[in-house]
Amino acid sequence: PHGDESKLLEQVKDFFAKYETSKKDQKVFTDLYRKFLMENAHIDWNSWKHISEDVQKDAKNLPPFDGSRNDVLKRLAVVKLNGGLGTTMGCDEPKSFIVLRDGLSFLEIAIKQHQKCNEKYNSSVPLYLMNSFYTNRSTQEKLREMGVEDDVQCFEQSKCPRIFKDSLLPVGDAEWGDDAWCPPGHGNIFEALSNTGTLQKLLDEGRDILFVSNIDNTGATLDLSIAQFMADSSLEYVMECTNKTQNDIKGGTLIEISNRLMHLEIPQVPPEHLDDFCSTKVFKIFNTNNIWVNLKAVKANLSDIKSEIIVNHKTVRGRQVIQLETSIGGCIRNFEKAYCVHVDRSRFRPVKRVEDLVCMSSNLFEITPDFTFCLVAPQVPTIDLGKFYQKVANKDKRMPKVPKFSNASSFVIEGDVAFEGDVTIKGDVSIINKKEKQEIIPAGAVLDNEKRNLE
Ligand code: UTP
Repeated sequence: PHGDESKLLEQVKDFFAKYETSKKDQKVFTDLYRKFLMENAHIDWNSWKHISEDVQKDAKNLPPFDGSRNDVLKRLAVVKLNGGLGTTMGCDEPKSFIVLRDGLSFLEIAIKQHQKCNEKYNSSVPLYLMNSFYTNRSTQEKLREMGVEDDVQCFEQSKCPRIFKDSLLPVGDAEWGDDAWCPPGHGNIFEALSNTGTLQKLLDEGRDILFVSNIDNTGATLDLSIAQFMADSSLEYVMECTNKTQNDIKGGTLIEISNRLMHLEIPQVPPEHLDDFCSTKVFKIFNTNNIWVNLKAVKANLSDIKSEIIVNHKTVRGRQVIQLETSIGGCIRNFEKAYCVHVDRSRFRPVKRVEDLVCMSSNLFEITPDFTFCLVAPQVPTIDLGKFYQKVANKDKRMPKVPKFSNASSFVIEGDVAFEGDVTIKGDVSIINKKEKQEIIPAGAVLDNEKRNLE
């Protein structure tokens, strides 16, 4: 609790009287804001249990999809979360426009994977994009350019004010333009589906099983055995989780409180228990953000959907601001018949950093005719390219060709290092350039367990 709640809420009301947003978006923000002011973020560490065996299953133990099950295909729809910009990787367009491989962007790969699946089963499962006010217009233009505007549908999520960290009041400065606003996280999907009429449209078409995933996760193909399981077990919500490694310690995980599945993320963990949260022994799995929900259950729960607030701190125009968000994983607690399906790492291939982009576009993976990425190397090496490779444009300049990995276990660059062309990385390679002058690796170089240290 922050004190002065009622005064702050009054001021937010005044803010909305001056700024034009839809009444529905105002409600989304006001609900978030009220929870942010009133609710205790941390869970009681004595209150949770590990999830029980009867709400989890390994995907390998699910019956394979029966290709004649048109009843399942007719109930399905797919949503790719496309509200984010590629700012972390230095792009100001939708993240889904970033080219990943063979000249294809995340958006194109997602569409092609979907089309191939429909071709294979002779089905017409619809594909939707959830855009934000940042991405909606440019995405629709892109779909027209690609000639698929009739095949891919869009709906736009809510637009909420950012708030100043010091006063907790909405930015509300006309000069800030879009910077004064944000989409309130992917937990907003249920309200967004409802507010845009998409929820009712899908239900009217008899489509009540929805598969949702991050658009940059090329591993999130439509796994019909999970869809069939959802249908046959009358489940309301399924979270695909995978084994946690040291690299995934920040990912959300599942716990049980009062007989309900709950998503646990760092903001809800009391600080003295963070070590437990991060341990791969205490929490063995984490959320891939591949989520299946039943839309009838969504409709029934909609008036009172609860999710933990994620307080996202940013510096915008030199000021410290907060954006209030919820996550789709956090919404699991609203669903009585919720379930966890353990999936292979191959269903979780997110691209958060330029290093992930290099990895996914390299010979470590092959892409099949149905646009599925297959890991063909014995392992994925640890890649760290340092500060000169944080932006896609810088990577393209310094590394015009993706390196070839051959039994590589690590590839580390520090400082300014550029590659002229093809290069092969074997074993453990590190090039540390502490000099100002750029180190240039010639085309055709084979770096075999090379440790170069330039002082
Ligand atoms: P995240 O914000 O969780 O991850 O969005 P990210 O995009 O990888 O960003 P960082 O680097 O962790 O901050 C996951 C997916 O949800 C979409 C994004 O576009 C991405 O596909 N998203 C996120 C929305 O559609 N709307 C939102 O409000 C937030």
